[in-house]
Amino acid sequence: MNKFTKSLILIVAGSGVLIGSLTMPSAGGPHAASQPAARDGAQTSDGDPAINEPDRFAWTVFVEINKAANNGSKDRVWEKWAPDEDVYGNPNRAPIWPGAATGLQETGPRPKTLRPITQLQIASEENQRLPRRRRQRGRPAGLFLPAQAGGEEVRMNRATFDFIVSNNLWYVEGQEAAFARGTKINFPVEAKEIKAIWRPITDAEKPRFYWQLNPADNKVYGLVAIHIITKDIPNWTWATFEQMDNPNHCKEMKCKDDFGLKPDGSVSAGLLKMMQDAGLGPEWQYYRLNGAQVDFTDSTGRPTLLGNSIIEDGFVTTSSCITCHARATIGQRIPGQSRANRLSVFKSTSPLISDNGTPDPRWYYADPSRPQTLKYLQLDFLWSMFRAKRRS
Ligand code: HEC
Repeated sequence: MNKFTKSLILIVAGSGVLIGSLTMPSAGGPHAASQPAARDGAQTSDGDPAINEPDRFAWTVFVEINKAANNGSKDRVWEKWAPDEDVYGNPNRAPIWPGAATGLQETGPRPKTLRPITQLQIASEENQRLPRRRRQRGRPAGLFLPAQAGGEEVRMNRATFDFIVSNNLWYVEGQEAAFARGTKINFPVEAKEIKAIWRPITDAEKPRFYWQLNPADNKVYGLVAIHIITKDIPNWTWATFEQMDNPNHCKEMKCKDDFGLKPDGSVSAGLLKMMQDAGLGPEWQYYRLNGAQVDFTDSTGRPTLLGNSIIEDGFVTTSSCITCHARATIGQRIPGQSRANRLSVFKSTSPLISDNGTPDPRWYYADPSRPQTLKYLQLDFLWSMFRAKRRS
């Protein structure tokens, strides 16, 4: 068999590429024979990996933002990003990027201000508001891993931060002004946000976790879950990761990872290489991608689902990151109410059901055929904007 035929067979067998590729001039080129299938981490000529290879893309971002921040501490890149309380905490003072006030980059771990998982708190509060007979019992149970302390933090990178500040989206009146203008909010392609969940871990667990000694209480906290979103495509890329020892990991919702795992469930050579090249230690090999989401539905119109056993606990079977986040909105102020007017996080019929599938235009317009009947303006998928406060 000559080199040319061999490489064609490799391509077809390895990645299931369609017949069309056979006629591509590069198929027999010098790289083809030595280029294993994409799941082994080799180069590809794909110009849009975010949408064409979402699992691989999710890992690329995970590895990139989990590199050392090189600030004299254990911190990773994202741990230097702005926490959402710095952005929405004070409506009367423009947010300042961490460390920017002093002109010094922050060094050393900053005490973590972890809060209970907000979504579960909302679900629990809405559940309490239902008539007794319709209330769901049991879940979400303790607002967090049963009987364990811990909590969440949310952070955004500089591009996200700058956009929010320069468009006055960090206080409610600024968001209401955006609604009044009715112009689409559109973050720059560099924008990224994370939501991270930590819990105290034992010494024996340390080798299997990325951990931090929290100066706030002197306890060792391990990273148990992380959501990562990027604006590389217009409706963002959505990915969620878990430490593999989480008790319900992949139990209620199937996980899918075409890049990071071999069919036998072990970590792929491509992912190992990616981690090694980035200087990530062996503890990172205990993290798993649950899946990546880049669209509301599959090609047959069925809703795509994605959730995390910790963060979406209690509603993971209906969870769709992209659909729920499409409901992050602002509407006109209701006279006499100080609370901002927004669409709800959960289905009003049940606080434990997430909307999924394609967003309904009637959520946003009184009459979808007439854009001037806008009721709610999308906040470009960023739910944390609901933390903004009113100035007066
Ligand atoms: C049922 C609704 C819902 C679902 C489903 C959901 N989220 Fe969220 N998400 C929220 C809410 C509400 C917040 C803001 C509260 C908070 O900070 O926890 C949020 C916050 C976030 C943030 C912080 C940035 C921001 O402003 O939105 C990220 C990142 C995020 N979610 C990613 C995801 C990913 C990834 C998934 C899917 C695996 C997901 N979410 C599923 C409701 C949802």
